[in-house]
Amino acid sequence: MPSFPNEFLWGAATAAYQVEGAYLEDGKTLSVVDESIAPEYADTSIASDHYHRFEEDIRLMKELGLTAYRFSIAWTRILPDGRGKINQAGVDFYTQLIDELLKNKIEPIVTIYHFDLPVVLQEEYGGFSSRKIIPDFIEYCRVLFEQFGDRVKYWLTINEQSNMFLLPYLITFTEENEQSLLKQKYEMNHIMTLAHASAVKLCHQLLPDAKIGPAIGISPVYPKTCDPKDILAAEKAEELRNTFFLELYCKGNYLPAMQAYMREHDCQPTIEAGDMELIKEGRCDFLGLNYYDSKTVEHVTAYDRGKELVINKSGEVGSTEKEVIEGIYKGCNNPYLDRNDWDWEIDPEGLRITLNRIYQRYEVPLIITENGLGAVDTLTVDKQIHDEYRIDYLKKHLEQVHLAMVQDGIEVFGFCPWSFIDLISTTSGFRKRYGFVYVDRTDTEIKELIRYKKDSFYWYQGVIRRNRKGFEL
Ligand code: BG6
Repeated sequence: MPSFPNEFLWGAATAAYQVEGAYLEDGKTLSVVDESIAPEYADTSIASDHYHRFEEDIRLMKELGLTAYRFSIAWTRILPDGRGKINQAGVDFYTQLIDELLKNKIEPIVTIYHFDLPVVLQEEYGGFSSRKIIPDFIEYCRVLFEQFGDRVKYWLTINEQSNMFLLPYLITFTEENEQSLLKQKYEMNHIMTLAHASAVKLCHQLLPDAKIGPAIGISPVYPKTCDPKDILAAEKAEELRNTFFLELYCKGNYLPAMQAYMREHDCQPTIEAGDMELIKEGRCDFLGLNYYDSKTVEHVTAYDRGKELVINKSGEVGSTEKEVIEGIYKGCNNPYLDRNDWDWEIDPEGLRITLNRIYQRYEVPLIITENGLGAVDTLTVDKQIHDEYRIDYLKKHLEQVHLAMVQDGIEVFGFCPWSFIDLISTTSGFRKRYGFVYVDRTDTEIKELIRYKKDSFYWYQGVIRRNRKGFEL
C-alpha cells in the first residue's frame, strides 16, 4: 500500500456502552441503550470490561501502533442525574483514560454522545423529543470541555444522527400513530441539530484550538438500473438519507428538496426564531464518517406500500427485509457486491464515492470514524484468530481512502476502524465481532475476558509501521 502523510491519524474506535461494562458502578446510572440491548444477547453490565482493564487495553493500542483512539464518554457516568451534580468517579475514570492515552502518544478523539441518553431524561421529558434536552446537553458538554478540554483536541458531537432517525431501533420515539411518528422524527431531528450546533458553538468559545464535528452514519445510494426512474429514486434516497443531514451540518440549511418533502408529508419541525441562525453558527470543523456499506434502490410503483426496514440481527444470511419509502424508492440487492452474514453489502469503492460526494460539495476535512466488518470469529485451540476476511475488508477500504486522497484531492486526516477491541454489537451482541483484539467471552458465558491479538491486529500494525516514521515495537 502506498504511503499516507506522516501526520495521518492511525486510529481505532469504540463506544462506552459497548466496551466499558461497569454499567452501574461508581455512581453511573442507566442509559436508554443499557436498557434496549436485545435480551437474547450480552447486556452492557460487563461488556468487554474495559472500565477495569483500560490500562491493559491501552498497552495493546500502543503495541498496535495507534496514534489515535476514538471512544465515547458515557453521559450517565459524568452526570448520573442527567444534569446537576458531577460524579467525580466518572470524571476520574476518563481523566485516567485520557492521561494514559497521551502518555502513550495516542490522540484521544472523544464522542460526546453515542446513543446513550440518561434514562432519567428520557423518562422526565422524552429525551430528544423535547427542547428541554438542549440546556441539559449543553451543560453536559460544558462539563466535558472544562474537565478534558485542556487535553482533548478532537471532539465528535453526536454519533449517527441520521441513523437514529432512519433505523427503527436507535432512538425512543413516543408517538405511535404513523403520521404523528413521522412528525416526531423530524421534530427530534431538528432538536438534535440544535443540540449539535450548540455544542459546536460552545466548543469554539471555550476551546478555540479544538476541532469539533459530528460522526455521521453514511451509505452512498445507487440506482438499480440506468432507467431514469431508478436514477431519480436513488437521488431522492440520497437526499433523504444523507444530504439532508450533511446540508444541516455543513451549511446550516434545510435542503430545498427536503423542505418540499416535509411540507408534502406535513412533518415540518417547529422552527423557532433564532434556530436557523444557531444552526448556521454551529457549523462543524470536520466530518466524521461511519462507513460500512452502500445501498441500492429502485423506483416504486403505485402498488408498493411503505414498509419499515427489518434488520438481520441473527446473522442468518438473507433475513434482512429492505425498506420501501412510499412514492420514493424501495431497497434492493446489489448483484455486484458480496455481503457479510448480516447482509451488509461490502463495497470499498463506495467509500471513495462517498468521500467524493461529500468533499467535492462541502470541502470540509474528513476522518473515517468507523469502518469494519462484523463477523463470527473463531478462537483456535492455540489461541489464534485467523480473520483474513477482516484484513481483506479493511485493506480494500483503506486503499480506496488512499486513492481518494491522492487521485481525487480529498482531505482525509485519519482512519479509525471499528473496532479496536471486540465489543457488544449494537444489534447482535458478542456473536458479531469487529475488533483487532479478541475478547474471550460469548453472549452467555463471561469467562475470563482474556484478550488475544487477531491476525488483523498484526496486519494493521504492519500498515501503521510502514507509514509512521520512527515507530518501533
Ligand atoms: C454504528 C455504530 O452504527 O455501527 C456502532 O456507531 C455499531 O455503535 C456499528 O456497533 C456496527 O453496528 P452493529 O449493529 O453491527 O453493532
